[in-house]
Amino acid sequence: MSTCEPYQDYHIPSEGLAILNNVFPEEIASLKRQVKTHLNNESDTDEYTQLMQLTIASHYIARDGPDWAEKKREELTLEGLTFVGYYDDSNQLKAFITILLTTDDWGLVLYLYEIHVHPDYHSRHIGSQLITSFHKLAVLLQQCGTMLDSNTCVSHLNSTKLTVFSDNDRAVQWYTKLGYLLSDESPQNKVLRSGRVIKPAYYILYRPLGL
Ligand SMILES: CC(C)(COP(=O)(O)OP(=O)(O)OC[C@H]1O[C@@H](n2cnc3c(N)ncnc32)[C@H](O)[C@@H]1OP(=O)(O)O)[C@@H](O)C(=O)NCCC(=O)NCCS
Repeated sequence: MSTCEPYQDYHIPSEGLAILNNVFPEEIASLKRQVKTHLNNESDTDEYTQLMQLTIASHYIARDGPDWAEKKREELTLEGLTFVGYYDDSNQLKAFITILLTTDDWGLVLYLYEIHVHPDYHSRHIGSQLITSFHKLAVLLQQCGTMLDSNTCVSHLNSTKLTVFSDNDRAVQWYTKLGYLLSDESPQNKVLRSGRVIKPAYYILYRPLGL
């Protein structure tokens, strides 16, 4: 795809949502799944930003300042974003993944927009189950072959992608272990003459389908 063409976001088609409902477990570690295909307003987005407050707010504050949650709330109402959340018995959100089917310079990609697990639930393989389901979704979406518009077929899907803060070491190591690679359009490390490495604010990582 030419870099002159505008990027295009797509709703996951209904066949894809059926696949999503199959690949993401209904329950993980006693948490129950709820899928949302659109958020409208502040009250809809609140539970997500409140969980993010507990996970990586420090990175967002460093980038966007103390009002980061306002910006994030706006972002979360983006058309096409699909939310797979996991809730405890009191209907409190404890983990979620947000997915966007979109185009970029590479063509059609499935973007891992957000993945967060409440700190009380870390290291219980919840994040691993979410991202494994996300990778399965990408492969099965590609195989289902639905047309997204007159020119774009979901079979063109070529990779999963994500953006990660470069100083979120745990997440960067985790993604690398899962087979993610630095994309050529990503901001890159700079190595000074002294040998000191200056990291950019974030990296864009990709993983070919079906690894
Ligand atoms: C990254 C995150 C989603 C992982 O979810 P999780 O449920 O805690 O992770 P899992 O239990 O599935 O473990 C996944 C891997 O994380 C790593 N990990 C788990 N606990 C860890 C710890 N205490 N310290 C360092 N690494 C750890 C391990 O590599 C583990 O793999 P392995 O145990 O299979 O070898 C979660 O830590 C999180 O919400 N982090 C904050 C938000 C974030 O950074 N999101 C990504 C931003 S793009």
